[in-house]
Amino acid sequence: MTIERTVSEIVEPTAVTEGAGVRLRRSIATRQLDYVDPFLLFDHFGSEDPQDYLAGFPMHPHRGIETVTYLLDGSVAHRDTLGNEGVIGAGDVQWMTAGSGILHEEMPRAGRRRLDGFQIWVNLPAKLKMTRPRYQDVGAARIPERVRPDGVTIRVVAGAVDGVQGAVREIYAEPEYLDVAMPARRVFEQPVPRGHTALAYVFQGEVAFGEGRPVEATRLAILGDGDVVRARTGEGPGRFLLLSGKPLGEAVARYGPFVMNTPEEIRETLRELRDGTFVHGP
Ligand code: CO
Repeated sequence: MTIERTVSEIVEPTAVTEGAGVRLRRSIATRQLDYVDPFLLFDHFGSEDPQDYLAGFPMHPHRGIETVTYLLDGSVAHRDTLGNEGVIGAGDVQWMTAGSGILHEEMPRAGRRRLDGFQIWVNLPAKLKMTRPRYQDVGAARIPERVRPDGVTIRVVAGAVDGVQGAVREIYAEPEYLDVAMPARRVFEQPVPRGHTALAYVFQGEVAFGEGRPVEATRLAILGDGDVVRARTGEGPGRFLLLSGKPLGEAVARYGPFVMNTPEEIRETLRELRDGTFVHGP
């Protein structure tokens, strides 16, 4: 029997200030919600006021996670200790495997009017926490966009829709990451394997999941277990990110930008940072 996933919890984002003074809306990694395995953080940054983000995120370290940044508008200039340097723009995705350790800088700039985008952190399994760091940009043109006959438009960042494979394929937790834009009075169904975590972040209009009441922008809906996600719009359009992934089921020890399995590994990380041995390898 196919079970439709229903909303088990609606999370109202918390306003936080990060980096050198970037104001953003955080739904995961808050006092209310530490993580939703394998997702460790969910940030939505969007503003028409450059004062909210121009200070950016100067050089800072990460270890033990992967970060995925997806921009809707504006741009982010970045550079890191792997020697990467560039700018990602509207529609682009940047994914970074921090692994054993990386330092990077992320500096947002306005688009025509505003900055808008998302950053999520995906956990790495214990055996890959100390893997070699890796960085990749995926330009908007490389992200498949599927337009269905009913007008529902899906950008496949990761995972697959209607047999179309997403651009980002090597995130270790194998998450699915879809940007789904729906006109009014439409239905969108997507299978998500039973046992996988599924989240929907509504950022335009409102969208209902299963038989529940509509979820308004901007809210994160945590979906209960099942086989399929069935999204439905009412009298107006709606747009949401659908994220899913296999839970790791491992212990989580987190301290700011470091997410390991044990407190001792966090202490070791801080020790290396002090000693100047944090960045491993060449
Ligand atoms: Co960062």
